[in-house]
Amino acid sequence: MSERPESAAAGGPTIGRVLVCIPTYNERENLPPVVARVRAAVPDADVLVLDDNSPDGTGDVADDLAAGDDAVRVLHRAGKEGLGAAYLAGFAWALERGYDAIVEMDADGSHQPEQLPSLLAALEHADLVIGSRWVHGGSVVNWPLHRKALSVGGNLYTRVLLGMGVNDATAGYRAYRAAALREIGLQDVASQGYCFQVDLTNRAVRRGLRVTEVPITFVEREIGDSKMSGDIMRESLQRITRWGLQHRVTQVRSLRHREETWHRL
Ligand code: GDD
Ligand code: MN
Repeated sequence: MSERPESAAAGGPTIGRVLVCIPTYNERENLPPVVARVRAAVPDADVLVLDDNSPDGTGDVADDLAAGDDAVRVLHRAGKEGLGAAYLAGFAWALERGYDAIVEMDADGSHQPEQLPSLLAALEHADLVIGSRWVHGGSVVNWPLHRKALSVGGNLYTRVLLGMGVNDATAGYRAYRAAALREIGLQDVASQGYCFQVDLTNRAVRRGLRVTEVPITFVEREIGDSKMSGDIMRESLQRITRWGLQHRVTQVRSLRHREETWHRL
């Protein structure tokens, strides 16, 4: 992996060194085309595959890709521990190696690498850029009604409980500044499944970081299966409800504090 200087003149990202993290669990057919598309769309970016010892041999496929391309690396993990744990390992890897921007991208082709330049451009003026399905210009292709309903409902619930002005807080196509991840502090993040996305969005907003959404077209996978499950949904519902209650308690406390200060004056 080369230590390339940033190459604004060549049209590359001015944001510095970019690492695209791609978590995989049983994605052996999906991974090679996605990695090739990332390398073509953002040639200056490096790629890190985060494989949880996929039974279908995705880890070996990833190793083959890495053997043929210096910019591709693989983190082999012992077993399936969820999307959140895989990303945390990838983020730590990136921060240790001095990357300036860290991207999250699904391996199944739902997140189009060709849209990554627009996320990275927006990162020039933001700490976290979310590739959003639910802003003007964003869309979802080939999702069954129940998945759309789950995403819209989940985002609505999240917005109401957490009081965040983010339209697609569950989205998994994102770019973080390394400094933002350091500021957020990852040591106590315990979210395992897809609520990891909401968790980090919430932490970024609470710390006053600049969060921007850019429209993306999310295309449902054609090969393999989604790993969304009842457990993942339950974890999201429980955690978001708990964060929401905590947020409201904090709001009431600070209101009371303000009132008391007012009376003392
Ligand atoms: N390493 C690892 N470990 N990877 C995983 C795991 C895991 O336990 N679970 C899922 N993945 C990988 C998949 O292989 C894929 O590359 C990516 O994470 C997303 O998984 P999917 O199962 O395809 O997710 P989805 O299409 O149902 O959900 C999408 O929408 C969610 C809700 O908006 C994703 O974009 C999610 O990130 C998003 O939260
Ligand atoms: Mn998917």
